[in-house]
Amino acid sequence: MTTVSNQQNEEPSRPSEPIQDIRVLEGRRSFFLWLVAIGSATMGALLSIPLVRYALYPVFAKTTSAPWSKLGNKNQYASISAPVRKTIDIEQVNGWMKSVSRKPVYVTKGNRKGSLEGTEVLSAVCPHLGCDVPWNADAKKFMCPCHGSVFAPDGSLVQGPAQRGMDTLPIKTEEDVLMVRYQYFQALLPNKKLVG
Ligand code: FES
Repeated sequence: MTTVSNQQNEEPSRPSEPIQDIRVLEGRRSFFLWLVAIGSATMGALLSIPLVRYALYPVFAKTTSAPWSKLGNKNQYASISAPVRKTIDIEQVNGWMKSVSRKPVYVTKGNRKGSLEGTEVLSAVCPHLGCDVPWNADAKKFMCPCHGSVFAPDGSLVQGPAQRGMDTLPIKTEEDVLMVRYQYFQALLPNKKLVG
């Protein structure tokens, strides 16, 4: 009887080698998962670079400068006796934004800086505070309705408060077509200064 009782209390002996094998396998599996995680993170970071660049592009992109706009054959302005008002459409890209704006300019006669063979193209923006300056055919002057600045037919300053004449724009001719590149200038300055 005693012999039977001792046999029931004894713990069944287990071999220790399988436990060690399981620990080794778990260690290998953890290392493998760790490698997969590192690899996935690296791949994710590499793949996200183009997306990040795309997302940040508008932050660093600059507004494109205005393209050259056609004003027609230069010969039609050869004998003008007064400034001719024209409207040009300007397409510009700012980051993801594309915009088209209409801008008035004047083709006139003059030899100020920026002229080409006695022709100038003026921005219609008053250099005082930016009002649209109309040509007054009776007075034969540009007369700003906002604060009374007056400009000669070639855009030079006659009377303030503007501190400079109307701004000339870059012009060129291509196969006898007069072309202008629209620009923006800072107001309230005695000398022309490009914006942007
Ligand atoms: S905006 Fe032209 S005079 Fe002030």
